[in-house]
Formats: sequence, C-alpha cells, structure tokens
Amino acid sequence: MANIKLSNLNKSYGAVHILKDVNLDIKSGEFIVFVGPSGCGKSTLLRSICGLEAISSGTLEIDGAVVNEVPPSKRGIAMVFQSYALYPHMSVYENISFALENQGLDRASIKQKVEKVAEMLQLTPYLTRLPKALSGGQRQRVAIGRAIVRGAKVFLFDEPLSNLDAALRVQTRMEIAKLKRAMPDTTMVYVTHDQVEAMTLADRIVVLQAGRVEQVGTPMELYEKPGNVFVAGFIGSPKMNFVTGDPAERAGCKTLGIRPEHLEVSASSLADGIPGVVEYTEILGSDSFVYVATDYGMITARENGRTAISKGQKVWLKPVSGYVHRFDGNGKRLDTP
Ligand SMILES: Nc1ncnc2c1ncn2[C@@H]1O[C@H](COP(=O)(O)OP(=O)(O)OP(=O)(O)O)[C@@H](O)[C@H]1O
Ligand SMILES: [Mg+2]
Repeated sequence: MANIKLSNLNKSYGAVHILKDVNLDIKSGEFIVFVGPSGCGKSTLLRSICGLEAISSGTLEIDGAVVNEVPPSKRGIAMVFQSYALYPHMSVYENISFALENQGLDRASIKQKVEKVAEMLQLTPYLTRLPKALSGGQRQRVAIGRAIVRGAKVFLFDEPLSNLDAALRVQTRMEIAKLKRAMPDTTMVYVTHDQVEAMTLADRIVVLQAGRVEQVGTPMELYEKPGNVFVAGFIGSPKMNFVTGDPAERAGCKTLGIRPEHLEVSASSLADGIPGVVEYTEILGSDSFVYVATDYGMITARENGRTAISKGQKVWLKPVSGYVHRFDGNGKRLDTP
C-alpha cells in the first residue's frame, strides 16, 4: 500500500528550472505512465520521487508522510532502470538474493523468496546463469525480481524496455502487465516513449511538457478528450491533423483536430470535404496511410486494409461526424472536457 502525493513540486538545476509546480495524486496500486517529449523532465520527476534528486520546493508525501528529507533507501521505493545494473560476477540467484542477505535473513527463507519470485518472472531455469548469458528481456526480469524480493511498495521504471527488440518488447510488456495484476497493491510509475506501452499499461497517463503537467487521465480520456492541442498531438499515432482557416471557422473554432482514423477519403467530391491531391501512400497490410496535400497543409488519413487511392489522385477528405476536436485560439479544448 502506498499512495504518493506531489504538491507544487519544483526542481531546478542551478538557474535552470526543470520541474514546474507539479501536482499529482497517485493512488495506492495505480499504474501511472509518464509521457512527454525528450528533455521534458520525466526522469527528473522519477528521480525526485525515489530521492535520487533533492527537490527545490514543494512537498512529496508517501502514505501521508512528508518524505522530502527521507533518504532513498528508507522510502520503500525500487527503481528499475533502462540499463539493468546487475552484478556481472554473480548468478541470477545471487543477484536476486543479495539484498536479502544484507537484511540478515536466514538461508531457508532467502531460498524460498528467491524461488517464488523466479517462478513468477519465469526465471527458474536461469537461476545459476551469469547475467552475460541472458537475453535483454531476461536481464530486465532479474532487475525486477531484485526489486520484488526487497518488498518495495512502489516501483519506478524508467524506459525499461527501450533496449529490447520489437518482439521482446511486446512479450516483456505483457509480462509487466501480468506482474502488475499479481501485485495489485504495488504502486507503479513508468516512463516510456512508446504509445502502445502507455495506452496498454496505464491506469492513468500523465502528459508532461517542459516540466509542467499538461493533462492527467485514463488512456481513453486522453485519446477521446485531449484538453489541449499539445496533448491532442502527442497522444495517438500517426499524429492528429490540425486544420485552421475555413474548415475550422465552419466548425466554430480556431483549430480543428481530426485523427487520421476519423477521416473519410473519397475519390469523388464530398459536400464540405477538404479537397487535395495525394502526395504518397503507405500500405502496411493491415491498414494504409494516405498523405494528402491540401490548402490547409498535409493531412494524413488512415484506411483499413489496402487503399484503392493512389499517388497523384485528387481526393476529398471529410471527418467522420462526431469525431472532431475543437480548440480555441489558446489551443484549449472547446467542448466539455
Ligand atoms: N544533473 C543535471 N544538471 C543540469 N541539468 C540537468 C541535469 N539532469 C537533467 N538535466 C536537464 O533537465 C531536463 C530534463 O531532463 P530529464 O532527463 O528529466 O528529461 P526526460 O524527460 O527524462 O528526457 P528523455 O525522454 O530524453 O529521457 C533536461 O533539459 C536536462 O538537460
Ligand atoms: Mg529520461
């Protein structure tokens, strides 16, 4: 059990203000994902939560107690990094048991704990191996195992899967989701650049930009009701299209946002359709992307399966009714959030 509360948290390095008035209430057992552009402060925020960085002002509370001055080892938090930091000369078993030996537990209880965690993480066949004889995904699991045996209440992950190849990422992502279900009371905070990881793992996503929280919500809230143009453009792939000028004015807004999957592409004229010429198409098998040059800039549309539209063709684009996003001159969402 551990809830984490950040109140007006600020962090500066010298004169450089990195985290700006961050307020966040993380409930016990929640899976929270931080996303945002490179350099926006995601790692700094994680390091501040676990105590590797001292915060400049504001408060950090764990289970209601202010922990600003509490050293990292006393916060009950485990951090799993992108580089696994395993001891190279120790076996998997020793890597996992090391922390327990330091706690002075007897041999039999250590063995029982290590074996239980190894089974949970499917590491049983590798317990006698050295880290160099493991794949990236297996090493990552050893690092997670080490955190589990220490009995951490909070797990922090900083892009744990970014060193893995595509297939292993998918597999390890599912294992992390399973692990979370097996530890419903453990709070997890996870940083990623990967849209699919964010959408599939998170109970709630926190979108950061330049050290500020832009929006906090469930994956579908952010996808369906982004609060501003930044979040709208950040969540979703390919990116949302933004149109200004006549089509936006007709919709009563300054900027009209339309996701590629919510555009009808027609080879014949559509009333209120945006005309354009196809610059190129990408056919991926399961779906196709059609890139259309219009008076309002390049617009991307997604079609299911193999598109019948080809390069150089004149087309009309029309948003599927009910799926547009309207923003005002400050980039704020106009419709009820
Ligand atoms: N020790 C430091 N001294 C000064 N500036 C730092 C220090 N550590 C990080 N920064 C700066 O703080 C900002 C936030 O860095 P941080 O590592 O938190 O970004 P990030 O969101 O994790 O980025 P990425 O997605 O690339 O990992 C960056 O502009 C970085 O240059
Ligand atoms: Mg980082």
